[in-house]
Amino acid sequence: MKFFIDTANLEEIAEAQALGVLDGVTTNPSLMAKEGITGEANILAHYKKICDIVEGDVSAEVISTDFEGMVKEGEALAALHPQIVVKLPLIADGIKACKYFSDKGIRTNVTLVFSAGQALLAAKAGATYVSPFLGRLDDISTDGLNLIAEIRQIYDNYAFDTQILAASIRHTMHVIDCAKIGSDVMTGPLSSITGLLKHPLTDIGLAKFLADYKKGNE
Ligand code: G3P
Repeated sequence: MKFFIDTANLEEIAEAQALGVLDGVTTNPSLMAKEGITGEANILAHYKKICDIVEGDVSAEVISTDFEGMVKEGEALAALHPQIVVKLPLIADGIKACKYFSDKGIRTNVTLVFSAGQALLAAKAGATYVSPFLGRLDDISTDGLNLIAEIRQIYDNYAFDTQILAASIRHTMHVIDCAKIGSDVMTGPLSSITGLLKHPLTDIGLAKFLADYKKGNE
């Protein structure tokens, strides 16, 4: 299972990278705005900085909603760095653009996916990744994990290569549940990754080991 971090914050990306378990980064326009990154030149420069920190895939989202605009933006993003994956919204023109990029060998991440039917379309258009937003489904009292399971079944039935990128992860239990289902990738905040480290018995056990060592070596 690949671990991506869902942020445009360079410090958090560096911290996750330093842990040694990071496989990539996902961003979106909201996350860029949260870091105060505005204007095309600054946004492109920021993507390059992210690529310099991580070794894996970096999803960079287009702003256009029409096919021509998405192609123009996506080609510019893909040309920025070999690690860039073009992120496209799940709308009709996004699916067309996905097919266009797939035919050209440019990797894509189809985002804003909330149904199995949408995920099926993205796979048929040759998406590299599909991003179902499980947390946002949970937020409206719908079973987000069930969507991940449905997509897993459909992709397995037809041996689609598209990787399921469980997005909008809220906490560590989402990560564990997605791993059980067989999601290829998860993307979430740094806390959803570092939270996996935590268990009180680990802390208690380590404290006792160190105390016993100290007693025996006084
Ligand atoms: O990057 C897309 C997705 O992960 C958004 O998550 O937390 O805004 O629902 P969130």
